[in-house]
Amino acid sequence: MTFSKPHGGELINRVQTDYKVNPGLQQIELDEISLSDLELIAIGAYSPLTGFIGKKDYENVLQHMKLSTGEVWSIPITLPVDEGIARTFEVGEEVKLVKNGVVYGVIQVTEIYRPNKEVEAFKVFKTTDKAHPGVAKLFSRANVYVAGPIIMVNRPVKEKFKEYYLDPIQTREVFQRLGWKRIVGFQTRNPVHRAHEYIQKTALETVDGLFLNPLVGETKSDDIPSDIRMESYLVLLQKYYPKNRVFLSVFPAAMRYAGPREAIFHALVRKNYGCTHFIVGRDHAGVGNYYGTYDAQLIFGQFSEEQLGITPLFFEHSFYCLKCENMASSKTCPHSQEDHVILSGTKVREMLKNGEVPPKEFSRPEVIEVLIKGLQKTFTKI
Ligand code: ADX
Repeated sequence: MTFSKPHGGELINRVQTDYKVNPGLQQIELDEISLSDLELIAIGAYSPLTGFIGKKDYENVLQHMKLSTGEVWSIPITLPVDEGIARTFEVGEEVKLVKNGVVYGVIQVTEIYRPNKEVEAFKVFKTTDKAHPGVAKLFSRANVYVAGPIIMVNRPVKEKFKEYYLDPIQTREVFQRLGWKRIVGFQTRNPVHRAHEYIQKTALETVDGLFLNPLVGETKSDDIPSDIRMESYLVLLQKYYPKNRVFLSVFPAAMRYAGPREAIFHALVRKNYGCTHFIVGRDHAGVGNYYGTYDAQLIFGQFSEEQLGITPLFFEHSFYCLKCENMASSKTCPHSQEDHVILSGTKVREMLKNGEVPPKEFSRPEVIEVLIKGLQKTFTKI
């Protein structure tokens, strides 16, 4: 496959900064997730979506992982609104989308409907357990969904790492300029440790470029904050990656922790950013023990490559093997578990918070240094 087409064939652009918003319109106050979804729809990262989805699409996405127009889509992108607020306007009206007094856009309301959140949770997250962070978030949000096409009139101000916020049209231009035809996308909500580096570089051996695209939207409170992670990516890229083969920019979406369904979603979005390939390792977008280690890979079997338009690259659980003196996986290493350096994310976070240094076989020392400094600063602030 060569340079990939956007999902649905055309890159959506709903940013229109000269659009005149009638100040007399009713308004919806956005939360962090809705604001990020609004922007991602507007810049075409969620192509072919042009707005927050209506009931028919919602049902189709839940039941069949497809939009009603037939494209694969696995996570419902909805706009939850308090019932009282939803009563202040009607279908057919234009409504302002606001956060903290700033008007970010409008929605042309085509539908107002009530979701069954139990069904949504079960379909999207495979559980209705409120201990699951995605399920908890779903139930904590308002109970009515407002649907319709959007226009974004104002982009949220990026406080830090501004130059790493690129729209799909821009990343596509970058890849073209670099002459990359086969581009592998990498999603992460973590610092890049040796296992991540190993699978990225293994993939890079067979394509032209690596698109490191960390998610920097809302994550659960015990994940490492995105600004600290950004520092760690920069130091790692500088020391251990060839400049002309890696491109870093952020994915300003919220993390859903929906495991398999989110893996499909992550792949489709990276296709919109211009990737031809997408890495899916162990327990992609997973949390706790809700998903099997390779469920997020198996789900790709439900769709053809034509339907997805991006090639998933699957990787086994990787680790450092003391006997091989190398990064490896069970596919490439014959030794037993005692020879493998494996640490859980939780264990590593604990170590970092206590200023302890995880082994260099687990993470590059330069990365650890940035993380320890960053996390200690965060804790002294609290
Ligand atoms: S995620 O929630 O964004 O998927 P994470 O940042 O940990 O979490 O993972 C980024 C990517 O690396 C995912 O595709 C994940 O499956 C993969 N991955 C993480 N750790 C490993 C590992 N030890 N072995 C193989 N793949 C891994």
